Amino acid sequence: MSARQILVTSALPYANGAIHLGHLVEYIQTDIWVRFQKMRGHECWYVCADDTHGTPIMLRAEKEGITPEQLIARVHGEHLSDFKGFLVAFDNYYSTHSDETRGYSEDIYRKLQATGLIEVRAVEQFYDPVKQMFLPDRFIKGECPKCGAKDQYGDSCEACGAAYAPTELKNPYSAVSGATPELKHSDHYFFKLSDPRCQRFLRAWTRRGHLQPEAANKLAEWLGGEGESRLTDWDISRDAPYFGFEIPGAPGKYFYVWLDAPIGYMGSFKNLCTKRGLNFDDWWKPDSKAELYHFIGKDILYFHALFWPAELQHAGYRTPTNVFAHGFLTVDGAKMSKSRGTFITAASYLEQGLNPEWLRYYFAAKLNGTMEDIDLNLDDFVSRVNSDLVGKYINIASRAAGFIANRFAGKLLDESCHDRFMASLPELLLAAEEIADGYEQRDYGRAIRRIMAFADLVNQYVDHHQPWKLAKQGGQERELHAVCTVLINAFRLLTLYLKPVCPQLARRAEEFLNLAPLHWRDAAHLLPPGHAINPYEHLMSRIEPKQIEALLAANRESLAPAPAEHSPQRHAQHQSGEGKRAVEQIGSDDFAKVDLRIARIAAAAHVEGAEKLLRLTLDLGPLGTRQVFAGIKAAYDPAALVGRLTVMVANLAPRKMKFGVSDGMVLAASDPEGKTGGLYLLSPDSGATPGMQVK
Ligand code: MSP
Ligand code: ZN
Repeated sequence: MSARQILVTSALPYANGAIHLGHLVEYIQTDIWVRFQKMRGHECWYVCADDTHGTPIMLRAEKEGITPEQLIARVHGEHLSDFKGFLVAFDNYYSTHSDETRGYSEDIYRKLQATGLIEVRAVEQFYDPVKQMFLPDRFIKGECPKCGAKDQYGDSCEACGAAYAPTELKNPYSAVSGATPELKHSDHYFFKLSDPRCQRFLRAWTRRGHLQPEAANKLAEWLGGEGESRLTDWDISRDAPYFGFEIPGAPGKYFYVWLDAPIGYMGSFKNLCTKRGLNFDDWWKPDSKAELYHFIGKDILYFHALFWPAELQHAGYRTPTNVFAHGFLTVDGAKMSKSRGTFITAASYLEQGLNPEWLRYYFAAKLNGTMEDIDLNLDDFVSRVNSDLVGKYINIASRAAGFIANRFAGKLLDESCHDRFMASLPELLLAAEEIADGYEQRDYGRAIRRIMAFADLVNQYVDHHQPWKLAKQGGQERELHAVCTVLINAFRLLTLYLKPVCPQLARRAEEFLNLAPLHWRDAAHLLPPGHAINPYEHLMSRIEPKQIEALLAANRESLAPAPAEHSPQRHAQHQSGEGKRAVEQIGSDDFAKVDLRIARIAAAAHVEGAEKLLRLTLDLGPLGTRQVFAGIKAAYDPAALVGRLTVMVANLAPRKMKFGVSDGMVLAASDPEGKTGGLYLLSPDSGATPGMQVK
């Protein structure tokens, strides 16, 4: 097998939000694949970067009172530490706000322009006269033209699902300033995807047969039938003010963030080339022998499978070997939710002391290389990690290690146990390629099932030979030594097979086994006779269900969701479903369980170190006083709250938060996505007194 040259990317996360477990489906999945390729002895590079440009990042920085550069520098640090914590080992983690990315963006743009694939057209677009900027669709709200639902986004209605142009909204307003937007003309730059050359190329590219079947179907749908031209030109410019790269020769016009984002893959790789002395062109020239793979979520397939290859092809670069799209993460069968505490950030998971390899293992067991969504079922998470990883795999080492250390001076049997191994556990040595195939195909679930089936066989071997009995019988020393030697060898092979998924655990197991880092080729042989191992040290703990409860509590928001962190710039086609609230019907008995009371805000104060919270002391009259933390800091000055009446949930189980116990919840109305920042505490009509029940 000759070494392949493989360049791998994960999608570049936006630089205005925290990494959460949904993101990690992608980064962990890619990291496993990259680690596997490296173990196989291939030359494999894994690059990524922060996606730093666009209106949401610009506005977010403004809201925080800092420059976009300051914002993206801070988030870069946060992202790096999250990825490190989850053992995602990029060879380079860069930024799209870099000279390299600017250079390739300009270069690609100029080449496309030279081939006649750039066109300038006047576009009529909504403009915010107060904020003095053109508004992206997602920053315009109004009433749905189809069903009349209020406060809908400019591209689609979350109430009836209709898709439309922002100009069709009734009573539109700017989500930035609240002003009524005006229609204004401006010149925009388009990439002519409708050009027959692009259509022809994309059809051929799709037909190479490398794409996942679901992705190929999507592309066929987007492309339409032969001779049909369904693709429309792509608007790649935005007007100032915009945080991004100015278009060469077009003052005041900027590249739309999605133009330079994938070019960020090249920018990050170029930066790596400089650091490592690699030759960029070898990897990116049209006839390059290197392979190029992009791991992405299904929501951004359109950008990666249409725009991106078409741009590269016509600017004289190689195109991707393949695009690997995955599905979305759900938690306990539902979209991640801030109110349920299932919108779990990477940082909170680590802060709560959970082991990152538990999650890596669970995701691996669930991934199968398709675009299906994957569910993190929390009960299943606990039981699977405990039974498989700790109960089956780790257990093997702990069962054999004591005997080797205490009875045999830490050394394996001084003769080969190959025949014995092949007589009892031949699959473990023979299945290396089969497991490798599972990894290669990104069907990690298949690889994990095989590995755990082997672990079962090994545990049966232990139960059959009963080393603890051999240890008590006289004259069975050599037999005991042989059995334990087989077990240590089996543990070594399982470690090797699990290593792409649990690299840290594998490193510690290698130390215990007294081995240099394992490569895939090491699966072809057993340990040499008489090999000395080190004393066994505890390798991994079980998950306690209470750790999961604490994790949910840490992520549960008491009130008012934080501003939505997803980008307003998603392609409208992929927006459906996002942000929808599934509201289930309940019976009056269910409602009666909620004890709503009138409360007087007796005191209100800022909480040191809390971004969103105020500490409220609530007077419930005959029911006493309560301390509640409410996420209303953005909307209320504490002094203005003192003395007023509001409504609270009085029988909510007390919740321990970082800042103290919150004993109940006050009620407030808010915009579902929190975009406008509007938050409105409820008040009773006059006459209500503290402690009264609300029904
Ligand atoms: N910045 C763009 C990507 C530009 S690539 C040139 C973007 N950023 S993102 O932060 O929103 O998402 C980064 C990656 O994480 C995407 O591939 C996205 O599909 C993936 N995921 C984000 N949320 C996810 C889940 N809940 N589940 C699984 N993957 C998710 O898109
Ligand atoms: Zn509607």
